[in-house]
Amino acid sequence: MVKLMLALDVMDKDKALKIARETSEYVDAIKIGYPLVLATNLKIVKEIKELSNKEVICDFKVADIPSTNEKIAKLTLQYADGIICHGFVGEDSIRAIQNVAKENNKKVIMVTEMSHPGAVMFMQPIANELAKLAKKLGVDGVVAPSTRPERLKEIKEIVGEIPIVSPGIGAQGGDLEKVLEILSDNDYIIVGRSIYNSENPKESAKMYKEKLKNRE
Ligand code: XMP
Repeated sequence: MVKLMLALDVMDKDKALKIARETSEYVDAIKIGYPLVLATNLKIVKEIKELSNKEVICDFKVADIPSTNEKIAKLTLQYADGIICHGFVGEDSIRAIQNVAKENNKKVIMVTEMSHPGAVMFMQPIANELAKLAKKLGVDGVVAPSTRPERLKEIKEIVGEIPIVSPGIGAQGGDLEKVLEILSDNDYIIVGRSIYNSENPKESAKMYKEKLKNRE
């Protein structure tokens, strides 16, 4: 079954803990990014992990030189199960993160083409090359857009067995039906606002989970 990753981009600790607790029955993994970590601190990752008992991925879109990437990975992977990095900075920068991840048995997930409209300007023209690099490096996952199913399909064909982590369903308007025709078991959809901003995040997470189950 395609899995559900909750993007927990709220900026309030109590709200984050409440939503993580309420939705944990339906969510397979939780993604924490800058909004929540900057509003609190990195230890929120540990707290959310302990409370939810889910895989927690830090979406820091790391994009620096190898020595800085290494430091960011070391700090992040003390608590997180995985880290999202950019691929456009090149092979050495990604390898620096992979080295830290391997030592700690953690995941590195690389961005190919982002889901927002602006990604067509600079990212889309190089996204297939980034997907090829992800495959060459054997990363543990790649991010590809649910907002552009045809691009999602192309990137999936390039990366083969590497799991896809795909944002764009819900608030960004991605078509879940179309996306589920492309994704396979072990891939994830990422859903943020349409769960955490809904009147009832638990019900919303349940609705997404049921849609994923029904497509099995
Ligand atoms: P929403 O609220 O749109 O949240 O459901 C989507 C989440 O995913 C992040 N995001 C991305 N992360 N590559 C990434 O690594 C992308 O292309 C991408 N598009 C969206 C976004 O920050 C939010 O957490």
